[in-house]
Amino acid sequence: MNSDEMKEKAAQKAMDYVLDGMKLGLGTGSTAAKFVDLVGAAVADGLSVICVPTSVATRDQAAALNIPLTTLDETPHLDLTVDGADELDEQLRLVKGGGGALLREKIVATSSDKMVVIADDSKLVETLGAFPLPIEVVQFGLKSSLMMMNAMASRVGCSGDIKHRMLEDGTPFITDNGNFILDCHFGRIEKPEALSGAFAQVPGVVENGLFLAIADVAIIAGEEGITTLELGA
Ligand code: A5P
Repeated sequence: MNSDEMKEKAAQKAMDYVLDGMKLGLGTGSTAAKFVDLVGAAVADGLSVICVPTSVATRDQAAALNIPLTTLDETPHLDLTVDGADELDEQLRLVKGGGGALLREKIVATSSDKMVVIADDSKLVETLGAFPLPIEVVQFGLKSSLMMMNAMASRVGCSGDIKHRMLEDGTPFITDNGNFILDCHFGRIEKPEALSGAFAQVPGVVENGLFLAIADVAIIAGEEGITTLELGA
């Protein structure tokens, strides 16, 4: 099974959590896109759900599938969010934001009773940090924010390059919220809670890509089938 097929299997399993009448958060990325396709097919078959997308890309995909959409302003409390991750550990701590949607993803996930993460088994790691940690920052004072982030990170034992995310044409990547992304190449994040707290003290930081105590269930697809990790199970 290739990684694409694993993502598909994880997305299929996540459909078990979807019940008629639910208010759903729809994640962003290649794995979440497979789940959105399945929700679209289920809606075409009569499933009644209303959904909040976590990015413009997911909103466009869902709209094309005729999935009923709403906003958190209209529907501030959701039943379930299903989303992918760039990395996760056994404690269901996540790194997200590879696609730059971490802020909306975190707002939507924390507005939901339950967050289910779907991933292929390459995403499961012992220690977070090999995947560069994305941080959404305001454009104003970028260099100052970067310097402050470096200083705060080193206080909690993290160091490495912090790179301004660029597009292939050399222009800065801009999030759906009009901000920049800084990617932290730390290699290992031994204390994710401490790092998240440290970054929260930098005024230019809007949000970081560490999702801590947010995910409830992870559905991980590998060669041997599906593994479901659940907190407290
Ligand atoms: C989007 O910003 C991310 O948080 C994605 O959920 C994450 O990058 C996983 O994406 P893939 O499913 O494409 O690996």
